[in-house]
Amino acid sequence: MGVSRHLGERLMSLGDGPFTRLDKLLSTLTPAPNRTSIDLALGEPRHAFPDFVAKKVEERRAEWGRYPALRGSVEFREAVVAYLRRRYRLAEGLLSAERNVVALSGSREGLFLIAQVAVPPLDAGTRPVVLLPNPYYVAYAGAAVGTGAEPMFVAATPATGNLPDFAALPGDVLARTALCYLCSPSNPQGSVANATYLENLIRLARQYGFVLAVDECYAEIYSGTPPVGALEIAARTGSLDNVVVFHSLSKRSSVPGLRSGFAAGDEKVIAAFARFRAYAAPTMPGPLLAASAALWVDDAHVAATRKDYGQKFDVAERVLGNRFGFRRPEGTFFLWLDVGDGEDATRRLWSKAALRVMPGAYLGHGDGAANPGTKYVRVALVDELATITDAVERIVDTLGTPG
Ligand SMILES: Cc1ncc(COP(=O)(O)O)c(C=O)c1O
Repeated sequence: MGVSRHLGERLMSLGDGPFTRLDKLLSTLTPAPNRTSIDLALGEPRHAFPDFVAKKVEERRAEWGRYPALRGSVEFREAVVAYLRRRYRLAEGLLSAERNVVALSGSREGLFLIAQVAVPPLDAGTRPVVLLPNPYYVAYAGAAVGTGAEPMFVAATPATGNLPDFAALPGDVLARTALCYLCSPSNPQGSVANATYLENLIRLARQYGFVLAVDECYAEIYSGTPPVGALEIAARTGSLDNVVVFHSLSKRSSVPGLRSGFAAGDEKVIAAFARFRAYAAPTMPGPLLAASAALWVDDAHVAATRKDYGQKFDVAERVLGNRFGFRRPEGTFFLWLDVGDGEDATRRLWSKAALRVMPGAYLGHGDGAANPGTKYVRVALVDELATITDAVERIVDTLGTPG
């Protein structure tokens, strides 16, 4: 990918996004006529969300008449700090609502915009590098390419524990690195970075002076023990330097339409980010900040959601067994199934079973076998239990037999 002068042109170099590609792939096919179609391609939770969301918005309706605070209200940021302290057992005083937190209108915009303050200008000498896992969430690639940096897609496959081995990169690449994205629990593989992995990566970020952006938007959707977080591990090293985490209510509270998330971490990075955001980044309206604060305070609805996902994975485990390399992911709500040829399986599932899934290749970088997603499909377990049961049975019926 070359460097062109205009942001629009640079982003064009990435080609169509995964959902446009999926629409094109299926455009000439008709779904099996005798089945109700099921769409599990998009990671959009369809669970019920708490009633108090609408009540809060209504209660605070006067705030529609005011410009919201640029970094988010104090109430919101304090709720975030309390959540992070609770979730990651952080010491009091480690995080300040004033200095370490910024509200985001969904984590996607923050993941994209952080590159604007983390990546130096191109005319400073050598071309900066942005590291990202492969497969990846699309905002990371857009952010990297948007700044003109060189995106370095680092394979996260079973051979590397489904996490990118950034430390194995050559020293000259690491020396040019300005920003590194990690997703844990990871979309699409559902792998979790453990304490040792995170500590090594944080030390690498400090050694080479890059910003480590850890996307933890699936932090609350897990099986077994709660995944460790990057702030928790940074705190153990004595500081939050170089580390920024991104969280979201979209998955935690099943409110993707609320557009609510936050970034938290290194106060120098947060200060630069907030200064940049003050010019043009989205600000979250007051009533939505109030509803979001109430959601960050409440863990009961999150536990119920996690239990629901657990039941769906129980069904997947029972129906799939060890077919398609199935393993219960440590986190996220995705099945990441090795079907041999993800595009072909996606076509068959749509035309023979009216089930819409995402070819793994569309979430990865590279052609053919060089793309770590080629053999896979991603299935988002976002619908209710009965529909998910039906869907996994359709997968076995359709792909368990020769095409
Ligand atoms: C890995 C990952 N990061 C970030 C996001 C963005 O979530 P939101 O902007 O709704 O917070 C998503 C949404 O699908 C995601 O899968």
